[in-house]
Amino acid sequence: MTKETTIRAARLKDAEKIFALIHRNSDLLVPRSVGNIVENIDRFLVAEIGADIVGCAAFQVHPEIGQPESATVEIVSVAVRAPYRRQGIGRLLVEGVADKVSAFNPKEVLVLTFAPEFFTTLGFHEIPKKKVMHKLYTGCINCAKHADPFTCPEIAMVREVR
Ligand SMILES: CC(C)(COP(=O)(O)OP(=O)(O)OC[C@H]1O[C@@H](n2cnc3c(N)ncnc32)[C@H](O)[C@@H]1OP(=O)(O)O)[C@@H](O)C(=O)NCCC(=O)NCCS
Repeated sequence: MTKETTIRAARLKDAEKIFALIHRNSDLLVPRSVGNIVENIDRFLVAEIGADIVGCAAFQVHPEIGQPESATVEIVSVAVRAPYRRQGIGRLLVEGVADKVSAFNPKEVLVLTFAPEFFTTLGFHEIPKKKVMHKLYTGCINCAKHADPFTCPEIAMVREVR
């Protein structure tokens, strides 16, 4: 791991840099506007090296009707700038977000990802997408890239929290 990497809560002034990071990986991540990032700034962590933001990660909560304690917490918008990959920064960001959401005591954390090897090393395992129908209805149903979430190559994975 790069020694001088700091993982910290995002600040409002980081929003455009977070936007650029997500935008650069738009083939792999759900696009987010600067406005949406600002509205959710308290849900983002960033990785900082000197004055540079080199990575980000965030979370989102999907409620389950009639079962508030079964809400799904999803880790989203995980990106590390290409020259800084494979130095442990992605791992620090995901673990940082997982620590943050563990305060809510969710049953598990979810990811939908094209990078399953990365999440496997962090203890996530694949689940059938039909187990996250609420996520498919609120997110995937509006996807402009793939007609059907069940044939989309994105993989659903979870890691138990409680
Ligand atoms: C996925 C991503 C966030 C990983 O970030 P990173 O900083 O390189 O990850 P780490 O260095 O913490 O990796 C931890 C471990 O995960 C595994 N890993 C990471 N990237 C991998 C890859 N592309 N293929 C296979 N294994 C991978 C490795 O085992 C790695 O440990 P090692 O380097 O000691 O072998 C980064 O590649 C990225 O930004 N990708 C584009 C966006 C994306 O796909 N985001 C995830 C979608 S939710």
